[in-house]
Amino acid sequence: MLFEFHIEGGNFNKAGIASSEIKKALKQLNVSPEIIKRVVVALYEAEINVVAHAFEANAFVEIDTEKIHIRIIDLGPGISDIDKAMEEGFSTASPEVREMGFGAGMGLPNIRKNADVLNIKSVVGKGTEVEIIVLISAVLNSE
Ligand SMILES: Nc1ncnc2c1ncn2[C@@H]1O[C@H](COP(=O)(O)OP(=O)(O)OP(=O)(O)O)[C@@H](O)[C@H]1O
Ligand SMILES: [Mg+2]
Repeated sequence: MLFEFHIEGGNFNKAGIASSEIKKALKQLNVSPEIIKRVVVALYEAEINVVAHAFEANAFVEIDTEKIHIRIIDLGPGISDIDKAMEEGFSTASPEVREMGFGAGMGLPNIRKNADVLNIKSVVGKGTEVEIIVLISAVLNSE
């Protein structure tokens, strides 16, 4: 099952559509609440990062019996130092973004905590690709 979303930079009103659609789909598929929560948190943080830091993105979410595979490919400023961006509390969020309640520098650390796989590739001045995989629990697979 493949879902595709377009995410607009700067538009906080529309932020979170992908994560709420995927939440619905996973519920319908009877995926465990623990897995749903991890996927929703990771996808939401990645969506918000596009809204807060980039111009636009395409998000692809593939659900199969073993995993939820998320790819978010944005056009934006890119990330010059990914290790630093991954640190808790590091943020370059603008005053406008902070006013919306974001910019604690906790999004990427939160994605790392919730994902089984997190890969970030970025080219400064071009954009960023974030790949997230959450594995569906062995308990479900063995049933
Ligand atoms: N898609 C992106 N494009 C460009 N820069 C990004 C992107 N995602 C993250 N960053 C950079 O990495 C930093 C850390 O991201 P992170 O999500 O951890 O924190 P934040 O978005 O600043 O704040 P929070 O997520 O807590 O609201 C950002 O401040 C920004 O500099
Ligand atoms: Mg963030």
